[in-house]
Amino acid sequence: MADEKYIPRLYGRQQDKPLKPRQARLMETLLPRIAVPVDGPIDPAALFPQAEEIHLEVGFGGGEHLAWQAAHQPKAGFIGAEPFVNGVGKLLGLIDDEDLDNVRVHHGDARPLLEALPDACLARIYVLHPDPWPKKRHHKRRMISPWFFHEATRLLKSGGELRVASDIRDYIRWTLMHAQNADAFEWTAERAADWKDRPEDWPQTRYEAKSLREGRTPSYLVFRRK
Ligand SMILES: C[S@@+](CC[C@H](N)C(=O)[O-])C[C@H]1O[C@@H](n2cnc3c(N)ncnc32)[C@H](O)[C@@H]1O
Repeated sequence: MADEKYIPRLYGRQQDKPLKPRQARLMETLLPRIAVPVDGPIDPAALFPQAEEIHLEVGFGGGEHLAWQAAHQPKAGFIGAEPFVNGVGKLLGLIDDEDLDNVRVHHGDARPLLEALPDACLARIYVLHPDPWPKKRHHKRRMISPWFFHEATRLLKSGGELRVASDIRDYIRWTLMHAQNADAFEWTAERAADWKDRPEDWPQTRYEAKSLREGRTPSYLVFRRK
């Protein structure tokens, strides 16, 4: 996939305000215990010896969706990747509050993490409200890409799910176009409600709440790995 390789550079903010003291403390104490190192191949069974399946969230923002999923599926293991330090701090707070023992965190770019995971190790991938990069010259920065679908094809088990949400119509079109070119995936929607209504096991994210307040309408795409 050399020709489709992502640009190995992160765009967008990685910190806004200073961390709250508790979050700063959790970065020092909790994060080292649950961090996923991306300095070589990752063995998911070593990360989650008891888990029946493993899910990955790319760009978890404040972590509310990831923490909710982890609390509602205690038999699954969850890996979250997020470069934004304030988001990582928020997720650590939720993990600590709810005593979650099935979450591992990569504080950084999700893309090398994806490449370090072995084939067919995931049951689900979530990409919720990825940065839209609306300008055409910035489309190469979008997370959803031929490279991403190549990795998702490799990483998801047969029958696994890729969930993508966006409130940007062009990003939804873009995702559907790339999914159509990815033979291993089928879009599960059969009627408009399947992509217009958020499923019950898919809690609202912080970004989505803001988007609704501002009058935008999210869409929810679910693709199945054939
Ligand atoms: C618009 S926000 C959405 C956050 C969250 N998913 C939500 O719905 O509230 C996009 C997120 O993707 C993260 N992000 C951007 N590039 C990323 C990358 N290469 N790997 C992982 N996360 C990334 C950003 O830091 C940001 O938190």
